[in-house]
Amino acid sequence: MKKILVAVTGASAMLYTQSFLEMLEGEQVSVHGICSEAGEKVLELEGHTNSKSLPTVSEWFDCRDFTAAPASGSAAYDAMVVIPCSMGTLAAIASGITQNLVHRAADVMLKEKKTLILVPRETPLNRTHLQNMLTVHDAGAVICPPHPGFYFNPETLKEAALTFSWRLADQLGLEIKGRRRWRSTP
Ligand SMILES: Cc1cc2nc3c(=O)[nH]c(=O)nc-3n(C[C@H](O)[C@H](O)[C@H](O)COP(=O)(O)O)c2cc1C
Repeated sequence: MKKILVAVTGASAMLYTQSFLEMLEGEQVSVHGICSEAGEKVLELEGHTNSKSLPTVSEWFDCRDFTAAPASGSAAYDAMVVIPCSMGTLAAIASGITQNLVHRAADVMLKEKKTLILVPRETPLNRTHLQNMLTVHDAGAVICPPHPGFYFNPETLKEAALTFSWRLADQLGLEIKGRRRWRSTP
């Protein structure tokens, strides 16, 4: 069973976080979570109440708790997904400044050469954002912007978000039941 760490930070589009975690429901994965303070605020503003109400996560860690398991490489997560990833968190990861448990856990994933996927959300992007993305890419992270596959002709935002969640599943090496692929039969 894969062990995945999900981090929620204070960028818009919590719809993607919800979709990703719903997709993992019932899959052979163990999911732990961390939510930044701004992440909690944006979750509330976008109508998802709070992190604890999100599906599939079996254990949440306090973002200020540097004694929590994800602060150490010995916790041995297979992958970490920061969804959504704010430009502030992106900058912290790019610079290696670990001011909260999300930053520290991401830093650990990079040093342990484990899968770190960032779902950055901002528009438009300034030079610093772009440079930080290149820096973390070169350090080993995967930059996966939340772009749905419109070629599946999704009819709702939820359906559109799911097409993106499938791409994250590919990155995690998970074969999701019902996952559609362009011009291929199940
Ligand atoms: C409603 C709302 C939406 C926001 N959307 C974004 C966003 O899309 N991208 C971003 O980088 N920051 C966004 N922010 C700003 C971040 O929340 C802010 O920079 C925060 O300090 C990020 O902290 P964190 O990275 O620890 O979560 C948003 C803030 C609010 C209140």
